Amino acid sequence: MSEINYGYIVEYIRALHTAPCSPVLAEIETQIASEAETWPIIKPEVADFIRVQLSLIQPSTILEIGTAVGYSSILMSEHLKADGKITTLERFPYMLKKATKNIQRAGLEDTIQIIEGDAAKTLPTLPSEYYDVVFMDCAKGQYINFLPECIRVLKNGGLLITDNVLHKGSVAKSRYLIDRRQRTTHSRLRDFLWTIMHSEKLRSTVIPLGDGIALSYKIGGNTNESK
Ligand SMILES: C[S@@+](CC[C@H](N)C(=O)[O-])C[C@H]1O[C@@H](n2cnc3c(N)ncnc32)[C@H](O)[C@@H]1O
Repeated sequence: MSEINYGYIVEYIRALHTAPCSPVLAEIETQIASEAETWPIIKPEVADFIRVQLSLIQPSTILEIGTAVGYSSILMSEHLKADGKITTLERFPYMLKKATKNIQRAGLEDTIQIIEGDAAKTLPTLPSEYYDVVFMDCAKGQYINFLPECIRVLKNGGLLITDNVLHKGSVAKSRYLIDRRQRTTHSRLRDFLWTIMHSEKLRSTVIPLGDGIALSYKIGGNTNESK
C-alpha cells in the first residue's frame, strides 16, 4: 500500500476507478488485482490521471519509455487523435513478448510501435520535437540521464509525464535515513526533480499521486509565454 498517502484514501480512490474500454486492459487489471500476476503497471489512480491529461491534449504522437506488458500503451491509445501513433521503448525480452501479444490482441499493431532495446541506445535515434507527450516509466535511476533526450524529442508545448518520482516517499527523506543500496536512486531522483523544477525549458509540478508523478510542460508552445 502507499507510503505517500493515507492507505484508506488510496483505497477509496482506487474503488472509484473504472476499467478502461479495452477488454485486454480489464483482463490485465483483473489478473493483477487477484494477484495471479505481478506485472509492473501504472496504479489505477495514475491511469485515471493520465486519461484526463490525454483527453485535454488529444495527442497525435506519444512516446513511452518502459512498455512492460503494454498496459499503459494500450490505455493511452484510447485517447489519441484519429490516426495517432504511440512509440514505446522496452529492453526486457519477457516484457517484449507479453506486450507484443497484448497489443496484437487489442488490434493495435498499426497504432503502437514497440522499439526493442535499452532506451539509452534507442532514445537518441528518435526524431527531435516530434512527440506531443512523453511518458517516462522505466528505471528510476535513469530519469536524470534520459531527461535531455525527453526534452529534445518533445514538441514545444508538449507534456512530459514521469511516474514513480517519489519512490514510496523515500525521495523526501534525508539520504542518511535511506538504505545504502538505495542511495544512488535517491540522489538521482532528487537530481531529476530539482532539474525539472529549475529548467528554463520546462514548467513542472510534482504530484503525490500513486508513487509520485511529475508533470512537465515544455515551454514554447504558446507565443505569449516567456522562456
Ligand atoms: C514500471 S514498468 C512500465 C510499466 C508500463 N508503463 C505500464 O504501466 O504498463 C518499467 C519497464 O521499463 C523497462 N525498462 C527499464 N529501464 C529501461 C531502459 N533503460 N530501456 C528500456 N526499457 C527499460 C523495464 O523492463 C520495465 O518493463
